[in-house]
Amino acid sequence: MTKYVIEGGRKLCGSTKVHGSKNSALPILAACIVCKGKNVIHNCPDLSDIDATCNILKHLGCTVSREGDTVIVDSTEVSENSIPDNLMREMRSSVIFLGAILSRTGEALLSSPGGCEIGLRPIDIHLDGMEKLGAQIVSEYGHIRCSNGGGLKGTKINLSFPSVGATENIMIAAASADGITVITNAAREPEISDLADFLNRGGARIAGAGESTVVIEGVKSLTGAEHTVIPDRIVAASYLSAAAFTGGEIELKSVIPAHLEPVLNVFEESGCRIDVNGRSISLTSPGRLKSVKMIRTMPYPGFPTDIQAPVAAMLTKAKGTSIIVETIFESRYKYIGELMRFGANINVDGRMAVIEGVPMLHGANVVSPDLRGGMALIVAGLGAEGTTVVADDNHICRGYETPEKVLSELNADIKRID
Ligand code: UD1
Repeated sequence: MTKYVIEGGRKLCGSTKVHGSKNSALPILAACIVCKGKNVIHNCPDLSDIDATCNILKHLGCTVSREGDTVIVDSTEVSENSIPDNLMREMRSSVIFLGAILSRTGEALLSSPGGCEIGLRPIDIHLDGMEKLGAQIVSEYGHIRCSNGGGLKGTKINLSFPSVGATENIMIAAASADGITVITNAAREPEISDLADFLNRGGARIAGAGESTVVIEGVKSLTGAEHTVIPDRIVAASYLSAAAFTGGEIELKSVIPAHLEPVLNVFEESGCRIDVNGRSISLTSPGRLKSVKMIRTMPYPGFPTDIQAPVAAMLTKAKGTSIIVETIFESRYKYIGELMRFGANINVDGRMAVIEGVPMLHGANVVSPDLRGGMALIVAGLGAEGTTVVADDNHICRGYETPEKVLSELNADIKRID
């Protein structure tokens, strides 16, 4: 168990560079399976989820190495088509390997990823997409066996929900299927375009990624590619929340401001000044924030579910009542019970959280329930009076590279104790 010990009440200030996107790097690393040869992935964050993905790649027969923030995956040899239970459980999004293994080897055997801290997370849309491409699927006793039925074939696939993972899985599988695949109601997250850019560098023909309709013209084979992962918009928004909450003033470098548009609007509504200059964003907090009327998490370009928790923490001291509606995941309010230990006043009714701003939070001993909920507790601790201890069972390091170091450089008093 890791502990983050925070002495709250210091304003964040200064400047920091945002690392590469976890949610982009994960599918790109999985896609290395179909891009046969040497793949060079720059700006790959150093996170436990990335380590777990690299372990899966090694298990499948790839050679994987890291030099600084560059990960090199040689997928010339892929000798395995199954992912054992222990590797699947390390990371829920390992289902992203399904399309890649199926396409490369003709058969994939995965254990079912199951639910996780934030919800049930079924994979029916992924499996439906694979079946439409011609795969035969047998799912029993917690295992999924998927074979390509003599070769995947391009087709029309309308997603019942714009699932990020399913869109990515289908894109990877369809990249070298026979014929054209058209995905409608596709997810539009920036990470989808990043994956398409990587696959296209390896020889794929994907158009429309980042829009609702993605057209994939299957090619015979893909080769290894070199690619730089986009910056992590969720990490950026998390540090902006912390700066806003502590009455601070920070600059984030190496970001793509357009990816943060739905979030920047909320910071402005809460009274912060936002200045965008090329690839940097500066935030100046007014001190005590104003409440925001209503935040509804939505697929991109809506407000991201992954930033719901840190922003909720930021609004606990705002003047007035803020309302959040979580529409994407059913169990994403577990951190709220912990926020109450700081003296926050929040009522949850189903998918809705009503936050009555209080003048002050007091440091508390809390337990991080999941990755983004854990960051919300760190944000709360930074803006609370006194000492906070966030006990964390390796959730936060899944998505934030050395947050204690980044925040210390931004004037916070935070230590990590392992
Ligand atoms: C990705 C992100 C995650 C983010 C989420 C939504 C990665 C590694 N993770 O997760 O950080 O919170 O997008 O922006 O990129 N669903 C089904 N059936 C399916 C697939 C999804 O019912 O087959 C449901 C999910 O349970 C959830 C919703 O659809 O309620 C959104 O899921 P999805 O977009 O697939 O999220 P992930 O790709 O898992």
